[in-house]
Amino acid sequence: VDRRASTARSITYDRAKRPPPEAIAALYGVARLDRPIDDLDRIRQMYRDSSLVVTAWVGDELIGILRGWSDSAYLGYIADLAVHPDRQRQGIGRRLLKMAVNPDRRVQFVLRAAPTARDYYAHIGWRPVGNAWYWSRTN
Ligand SMILES: CC(C)(COP(=O)(O)OP(=O)(O)OC[C@H]1O[C@@H](n2cnc3c(N)ncnc32)[C@H](O)[C@@H]1OP(=O)(O)O)[C@@H](O)C(=O)NCCC(=O)NCCS
Repeated sequence: VDRRASTARSITYDRAKRPPPEAIAALYGVARLDRPIDDLDRIRQMYRDSSLVVTAWVGDELIGILRGWSDSAYLGYIADLAVHPDRQRQGIGRRLLKMAVNPDRRVQFVLRAAPTARDYYAHIGWRPVGNAWYWSRTN
């Protein structure tokens, strides 16, 4: 890959595309996001039933992704956020989050941070909650 050539190409953002599960799994893999990337049917279903998908692209290469749900009126959840390691710390994660949460300020968004991103959300203005609870999955 000619890194200089790909860096010169601009990043585009999209709120409508659903990338193929292979591309999503590959991005999760390199970004080391812990998701069932060996089960593409499960990844496909995760995306089919998410109401909020924001993606970042260089040409047709997927370099950033955010997935979540919103009722567009009151409450929303961010489930996954991943940026390609070659493209991290360039504002892409911040931009994806902004595109997800800003369209309607009436919506309060909640998320669970991965251990690798423990300090990230505080750094970009998110506030901690102490009353989160989860119901375990079996796998
Ligand atoms: C965490 C992640 C999404 C951040 O995306 P990014 O595009 O690299 O981050 P941004 O460029 O938007 O960073 C915005 C600011 O946060 C800082 N930051 C970035 N990653 C950080 C981290 N892991 N911890 C603390 N601060 C971080 C940046 O330095 C930048 O600071 P500045 O505005 O003062 O210069 C990305 O690094 C990633 O995909 N990591 C691996 C997967 C992961 O942990 N996902 C989160 C799951 S909840």
